[in-house]
Amino acid sequence: MGNPSLLSFTVALLGLLSPCLTKLTPRVSFPMGNPGRHHTCFNSHDIRNTTTLLLSEDGEMLYVGGQDAVLALNISHKDAIILRSKLSWSPSDKDLEQCSMKGKKMADCSNFIRVLNFLNATHIYACGTFAFSPRCTYINSETLTMSGSPDEGRGRCPYDPYQRNTAIIVDGQLYTGTVADYRGNRPVISRHLSDSRHVDLKLDDTLGWLEDPTFIGSSFIPDEEKIYFFFSEVGREYDFIDKFIVSRVSQICTSDVGGQRTLQRRWTTFAKAQLLCQAGSELPYNVIQDIDILPLAEGGPADDTLFYGIFTSQWSVNSGRSAVCSFRLTDIKSVFSGNYKVLNRDTLQWSTRVQEKVANPGECGLHNASDNALRFVKENFLAEDSVRSIGRSLTMVSTEHTYSRLTVQRVQAANRKNYTVLFLLTEAGQLHKAVLLQSGVHIIEEVQVFEQPQPVKNLKLSIPKGMIYVGTSEGVVKIPSANCSFYWTCAQCVLSRDPFCGWNPFSRSCVEVSQAHGILGQDVDGGNVEQACSSVSLTQRTRFSPSDLPTASCPSGELLSVSLNEVVRLKCPAASQLSRQFWERPNSRLSSDLYLHMKDGSLSFVATPATLGQYLCLSTENGYRQAMAIYQLRQKSSPLAPTSYTQFRRPTPTTQAGPGPGPRSGPDTSATAWPKIPYLDPGVTKLSMSIRNATVTTRQTNLDMSTWTGESRGKEAEFHDGNLLPTSRCSCYLKEVVVVSVLLVLCLSLLIIMLLYVIRQHCHHRTAPHTETGSTGSRDSNRRSSEVQGEVFNKHNGPTMHGGHGSSFICNGTLPGPIEHLPNTPI
Ligand SMILES: *[C@@H]1O[C@H](CO)[C@@H](O)[C@H](O)[C@H]1NC(C)=O
Ligand SMILES: *[C@@H]1O[C@H](CO)[C@@H](O)[C@H](O)[C@H]1NC(C)=O
Ligand SMILES: *[C@@H]1O[C@H](CO)[C@@H](O)[C@H](O)[C@H]1NC(C)=O
Ligand SMILES: *[C@@H]1O[C@H](CO)[C@@H](O)[C@H](O)[C@H]1NC(C)=O
Repeated sequence: MGNPSLLSFTVALLGLLSPCLTKLTPRVSFPMGNPGRHHTCFNSHDIRNTTTLLLSEDGEMLYVGGQDAVLALNISHKDAIILRSKLSWSPSDKDLEQCSMKGKKMADCSNFIRVLNFLNATHIYACGTFAFSPRCTYINSETLTMSGSPDEGRGRCPYDPYQRNTAIIVDGQLYTGTVADYRGNRPVISRHLSDSRHVDLKLDDTLGWLEDPTFIGSSFIPDEEKIYFFFSEVGREYDFIDKFIVSRVSQICTSDVGGQRTLQRRWTTFAKAQLLCQAGSELPYNVIQDIDILPLAEGGPADDTLFYGIFTSQWSVNSGRSAVCSFRLTDIKSVFSGNYKVLNRDTLQWSTRVQEKVANPGECGLHNASDNALRFVKENFLAEDSVRSIGRSLTMVSTEHTYSRLTVQRVQAANRKNYTVLFLLTEAGQLHKAVLLQSGVHIIEEVQVFEQPQPVKNLKLSIPKGMIYVGTSEGVVKIPSANCSFYWTCAQCVLSRDPFCGWNPFSRSCVEVSQAHGILGQDVDGGNVEQACSSVSLTQRTRFSPSDLPTASCPSGELLSVSLNEVVRLKCPAASQLSRQFWERPNSRLSSDLYLHMKDGSLSFVATPATLGQYLCLSTENGYRQAMAIYQLRQKSSPLAPTSYTQFRRPTPTTQAGPGPGPRSGPDTSATAWPKIPYLDPGVTKLSMSIRNATVTTRQTNLDMSTWTGESRGKEAEFHDGNLLPTSRCSCYLKEVVVVSVLLVLCLSLLIIMLLYVIRQHCHHRTAPHTETGSTGSRDSNRRSSEVQGEVFNKHNGPTMHGGHGSSFICNGTLPGPIEHLPNTPI
């Protein structure tokens, strides 16, 4: 039978699809300085590298660790960041001299503040690299003055300002993950500032509890009295692959006081496990870049705490550049309470346990345990199982962006349902706001927050203030987590699918859900404009009904005079980066012989008597249609005024009466300042009218197309045969359709072949045992179908994925199990 080739063909097709699956386009894009997403910046020529951020609990102050300084910034003003006080803390000339004599660049010899945490109600604890000789100090948070002289910072702060570290203060005690030497090869996780009931502890370094780690973050879980550290390191258990990086979660108990003889002044509760961000049989995204904890929903059990992490891959073969995975605290706990791998101390090889279990590694309260038990704990610190992401799948994956930092928030929408919103910073300086939906990830917007790639940066979210803070070497930027008033109409407000924003029918404006009362128009899951807007529409109940006449405003028409045989190019702005534009003419089709549909949505053709007349550009998004531009083309010499053109009214004041039409409706707002939507080259001044309408990202409206219905039928087909398919989204679907059809045909033919075969067998050898293929086939497909359900449940990326997998499991009675490239199981 031709099964193997069919199989490889199917696999190849699925492989072909996978890059497509992951294409996520932000709906709206705000370039730097766009008034729709206003930044407030703080920078000063004498304070640089402001990358360590600490928010006060009330959200009124932001403490910033920079180069040779700690700053207290007042952030309680809406439109300003005000420097309240500054503490200068720099190495002496002698320190600098020594540093540069050791061969370090002078620029890196400053004191880069890398630890900044609240110690108690009155003091902050800060550590800096201090010319490659780290120091720590207590700072009064009110006066921003140092109390006492600085301590030695070894083991608390890195020496090298480019090395990542993590620090957390719990009950006045400092827990850190950093390297504790000048060369950067003695990593430690340690406790400092221990109170009288505790002692300072560190890792036992005889067995290599850490292998060249990069520390990413740490998190305290009060319910368990445990601190979790997140880092990547060399995975020694995979010694057959050169320098295979693995991501880890490790734990220690805050009650740990070390052992009495064995493990004296060392952790008795240290344990680590692999953190796997991997989808099915793909190679894992193995290098963790950042992690954030999603606090519990109110009243939820602590075990439901989630962690969201950004991961990249060590290899370039993955279809995406970076992925987001989420992990459940319960899963982390159960891995740590399970079995541990055993290290053979002679060969330094890892194996699964054969010996008897003397103690439970990772358990709190082992300080009085026997030496035997402590030795066992000391040698068994790597959990056998890996912590897998929820649903064993990726929360999202980006093919174009390398995400580097994230923060996560649970947002209650107008219907009281909670949504998870991720703020993701890309290497290139874009901040993506993404909402996780059952149907996949939707990127609501992207905002450019810095232009030059930054080696060190930081992201902080203030939920009570609804603000994001980004610290880079150039300064601190503050951006509101939402700007609902940017969405001018109900349609735009709903299409944004931003859980922060809903349409208030009374004020006729898009408002923040958290500050609104009463019914709001919103549909985060579906983005269905007709439903969400008509349900809240008061004054114009029929506003969104199909029988509605074009009374609502629509773009005012543009009159164009052209000479015959001139090449005309009509521009059409996009409503958003997810919308698709198409053209219509009353009473005629736009045949592909005459018209060229350009990639940017514009229409190009030669002016002839036949092509004179009216043109309408429509945009559809998520099933909602709106007019973007209207043109009336006439011959230059002709003195006749357009007639039919007046049937479209200019925007009426009522529909424009949003929150402040003044500054926004004017053409003064330069085109570049508006969201970057690929519509036109600025040279075309003729079309300034429509440009303005475009820039308004459709403060548009709902032009009813009933007068044009005659033509709308031809449009879809044309769109396809006119070889335009402008965005790759479309081609993705096309590909999917092709693949599904091909698979269907293959499956059917396979079925027929099998049927014939069975009939033949039946006729010739009645004894032929076909049970084997039959039973394995059904078992296999059962397993697969449950896998697929798992993915759906866990919001795997995009609908195409399910299509692909779905079709594979329908016809894969003979497909073998998932192909595991990598051993995630112990060797
Ligand atoms: C929100 O958007 C509106 C409209 O573009 C703009 O006028 C306003 O300044 C924006 N606000 C912020 C805080 O970005
Ligand atoms: C906070 O810690 C500092 C430094 O140890 C100490 O001087 C101060 O009294 C403490 N403040 C409170 C309120 O405990
Ligand atoms: C454990 O040690 C503490 C002192 O560190 C002691 O008070 C306690 O009785 C010991 N518990 C057991 C079970 O030995
Ligand atoms: C400090 O900022 C400068 C640019 O202002 C940058 O080149 C340098 O890499 C930064 N250093 C650190 C340690 O972040």
